[in-house]
Amino acid sequence: MQGIAQLSGKATDDMSDPDPSNDARSVAGWKRAAAEAAVADVADGMTVGLGTGSTAAFAIEALGRRVREGLDCRAVATSNRTADLASKAGIALLSLGDVAEIDLAIDGVDEIDPELRAIKGAGGAMLREKIVASAARRMIAIADRSKAVNRLGARALPVEVLPLARAFVESRLMTLRCDPILRRAEGQAVLTDQGNLIFDCHFADLGDLPALDAHLSAIPGLAGHGLFLTEIDALYLGGPQGVIRSERQPRPD
Ligand code: 5RP
Repeated sequence: MQGIAQLSGKATDDMSDPDPSNDARSVAGWKRAAAEAAVADVADGMTVGLGTGSTAAFAIEALGRRVREGLDCRAVATSNRTADLASKAGIALLSLGDVAEIDLAIDGVDEIDPELRAIKGAGGAMLREKIVASAARRMIAIADRSKAVNRLGARALPVEVLPLARAFVESRLMTLRCDPILRRAEGQAVLTDQGNLIFDCHFADLGDLPALDAHLSAIPGLAGHGLFLTEIDALYLGGPQGVIRSERQPRPD
């Protein structure tokens, strides 16, 4: 079983939030602090993977500041929204299709457990986020403490589906004992940046996570999913005690 090592801050096995009554300003401040701590790890010459969402937006802002101060780096965006933010921040962008290796990916999460396994994709960018995370030598997840859970699965697991495979994938998802809900906004199906559909899959219990990952990945027409079991190397978690850094430990032989 993989574990995490506490590098700084208060060590605890229980990362869940005992006090959910955080005011929005504090949560934003915690996201910002985690994002800025991750951006401090970017060095000259790096190619950086930029995540999607409100926490990643703080990282883009901080990286833009460092670029204006003279940092030499390039970035790859995980969504069109992120690409817009990054170019407005003055960050040089490479096209994802041209990049095979990334030095450091920085991205938010929707839930993350003590083994640094996560659910992502509330923002609908999980396919590109998975490509960037997999291409990265190191991935830092950034989050406020509300995202830390002891067990994944309270939130729906998003999956991206080719429109031509909608009914087929939906029926296969139901055999995995989940309730797949097509993501909609204003009465219309939400489309990803690739023009695909999203099913938010509600499970009573995610069960064996590697087995679920393998089952989902084997469904033809399912382009990607938001379960990140091995990609995240470190978690920078913002909270009232500052930023707590956790690092994935190598598996014992
Ligand atoms: C987008 C994601 C985001 O990283 C995730 O939803 C977290 O977003 P936020 O930082 O806004 O809470 O996976 O697909």
